[in-house]
Amino acid sequence: MEELILILDFGGQYNQLIARRVRELNVYSIIKPFSISIDEIKKINPKGIIFTGGPSSIYEKDSPRCDKEIFSLGIPILGICYGMQFMAYTLGGKVDKAETREYGEMKVKIDNSNTLFNSLNKTNICLMSHTDYVSKLPKDFIKIASTNNCKIAGFANDKDKFYGVQFHPEVNQTENGLVIIDNFIKDVCKCKKTWKMNTFTKNKIEELKNKIGNKKVLCALSGGVDSSVAASLLSKAVGKNLTCIFVDHGLLRKGEGDEVEKVFGNRSDVNFIRVNAKERFLKKLASVTEPEKKRKIIGEEFIRVFEEEAKKIGKVDYLVQGTIYPDVIESGLGSSAVIKSHHNVGGLPDYVDFKEIVEPLRELFKDEVRKVGLELGLSPDLVYRQPFPGPGLAIRIIGDITEDKLKILQEADYILREEIKNHNLDMDINQYFAVLTNIRSVGVMGDARTYDYMLAIRAVKTLDFMTANFYHIPYDVLEIISKRIVNEVPHINRVVYDITSKPPATIEWE
Ligand code: XMP
Repeated sequence: MEELILILDFGGQYNQLIARRVRELNVYSIIKPFSISIDEIKKINPKGIIFTGGPSSIYEKDSPRCDKEIFSLGIPILGICYGMQFMAYTLGGKVDKAETREYGEMKVKIDNSNTLFNSLNKTNICLMSHTDYVSKLPKDFIKIASTNNCKIAGFANDKDKFYGVQFHPEVNQTENGLVIIDNFIKDVCKCKKTWKMNTFTKNKIEELKNKIGNKKVLCALSGGVDSSVAASLLSKAVGKNLTCIFVDHGLLRKGEGDEVEKVFGNRSDVNFIRVNAKERFLKKLASVTEPEKKRKIIGEEFIRVFEEEAKKIGKVDYLVQGTIYPDVIESGLGSSAVIKSHHNVGGLPDYVDFKEIVEPLRELFKDEVRKVGLELGLSPDLVYRQPFPGPGLAIRIIGDITEDKLKILQEADYILREEIKNHNLDMDINQYFAVLTNIRSVGVMGDARTYDYMLAIRAVKTLDFMTANFYHIPYDVLEIISKRIVNEVPHINRVVYDITSKPPATIEWE
């Protein structure tokens, strides 16, 4: 069995980051709610456990606490922030509330003779973000870190292999954060560090081959990263027994439908069906202006088209879904799964005749999915494609959708993408796109008056797409984008830049 680190979720915002950091260090990690049972932990048999941070105070009535028995399992534990406070409180230490919150990058004095801080200097800049703090060590613990405001910023019980840090080693703002996590998994938990993406890819193909054998598999391709990588994995495993159906609703970005066809349509090892359904979709959407109604119509029509095609194929044994790990993780603060606010139009089990779903990417984070994609030979353009909503450009055309507006938006969006790439910003901005507003305004071009559309540009920086900051595209780049769009795209005479973050705005406009 693969060695793994178990991360217990106490509701902190960096939980997925911790899991990714551990995997970057070549140890497989999974996230489970803090309320996990001891039996389940025993079944998982982790080499180490990490308690995440969280927004609660240990003295609140309903603060998250896991079963105390966890400290009797003989498994090393690292508590981060709230996780450290929970450990202190449960093992007989004391936690107090500070007058003010300590937030920011702080100089932390550390005891670098302790295993957790191996090969670090005696001071280290760390990100602190807390109000409560550990004021008294539990029995058998020693202090291994402190700041001016926080006397116990790190503690250790080397005998039982329990460690705690008040700061966040998982974020980039903490110097040598990765080294600290590595010290924990390598020197404390004695992990061999064998988890690698190329082993994953090889093993997964083998596993799929054994599981599926000669049976028939159906995949709904959207052209997005997840479904493309899932389809590629499957094609390596079962070849022609895989059929991919790509429903092109005509609401994709310029050139995107053809790109998907180029990648999958010309391969002799995949059955690829592209359904050009633009007219159907536009007809259904004619004069619909309400965002939720647009989404609903597209979702339903998508299912109808897919169903018609799937029926032609007949019974299949498996349906592929591009589910990835963030879709699977259960939150520690409640029993319900963290559900992406939006579902891809590809998730459609109940009307296709199939026996079972295969989700080959269920264990992976997005960046890992990308790595697998590259390994499978997919182009970087496809692999690093930014997220694109299922309903496509329909929710980026405010008001009713017409073929003309769709063309205007596709052209403008294409110029935006080109310039972002030309200025090497494409890897730094997490999502960027154009929105065609339904405002028309007066302009002057040549000597003539114009009365045309206003286009908005949206660009955000985000880790998880749940919250996001608007990206600061340099003014000179904005100027080039605006000039090109107004000059090259008929019917746009004004370009504005969206400078709202999420919350309060959402990333998409509809
Ligand atoms: P919002 O607009 O809610 O978007 O801030 C968050 C992220 O989700 C994407 N998005 C969707 N993805 N189907 C999807 O697969 C959808 O219906 C959908 N709507 C929004 C959005 O592009 C952003 O990345």
